[in-house]
Amino acid sequence: MNKIALIVHSGYGHTFHIAQEIAQGIKQVADVSVDILTTQDASEKLDTLAQYDAFVFGTPTYMGGPSTGFKAFADATSSLWFNQVLKDKLAAGFTNSGSLAGDKLATLQYLSVFAAQHSMIWISLGILAPQTKSGHGATPEDLNRTGTFLGLATQSDTATVATTPAPGDIKTARLFGQRIAEITKRWTQK
Ligand SMILES: Cc1cc2nc3c(=O)[nH]c(=O)nc-3n(C[C@H](O)[C@H](O)[C@H](O)COP(=O)(O)O)c2cc1C
Repeated sequence: MNKIALIVHSGYGHTFHIAQEIAQGIKQVADVSVDILTTQDASEKLDTLAQYDAFVFGTPTYMGGPSTGFKAFADATSSLWFNQVLKDKLAAGFTNSGSLAGDKLATLQYLSVFAAQHSMIWISLGILAPQTKSGHGATPEDLNRTGTFLGLATQSDTATVATTPAPGDIKTARLFGQRIAEITKRWTQK
């Protein structure tokens, strides 16, 4: 059984909604389990993180970068960094924000550098942007409608998490989860 941890901070619930959809995608793959941990939970049980094969880091984009809640977790992992406890484990990242672009790429770049500091191996999104096939811009139903490749970038309106992010973002989150689970199985094959 492979184990994946989703470690997420969410101020208003939209990023947490996406975490749940990624987890649904992970659950589509046999012999892979997933735990969703808030950044606060994860910070309080750092010594349990070595049991996971892969990590999916999630944060809203606040002021063009990760939230304070996520950064507090990241800083707490410096104790693991010293001994490179997470070395050669897999990592992926996602972020949600209010604008379609919203400087989310800067947040994903931060998450990938964070993973690299731990000598982890980064998994990209792996889904083409819609205009590559259709020749026009994205609709709310399209996969990867923000055209981001480093990780998953979704957009939510100021509305209840039941109706936002858009259906295309939800589908993309599930496919991303599935990809992470399948890659985790391949990476840990004996
Ligand atoms: C302090 C703060 C800073 C924000 N900065 C950005 C930003 O840089 N780009 C953007 O597109 N949206 C920004 N937003 C909007 C949030 O990203 C958006 O509300 C998102 O849904 C929040 O996710 P959450 O519900 O998981 O907290 C900001 C919101 C707050 C509260």
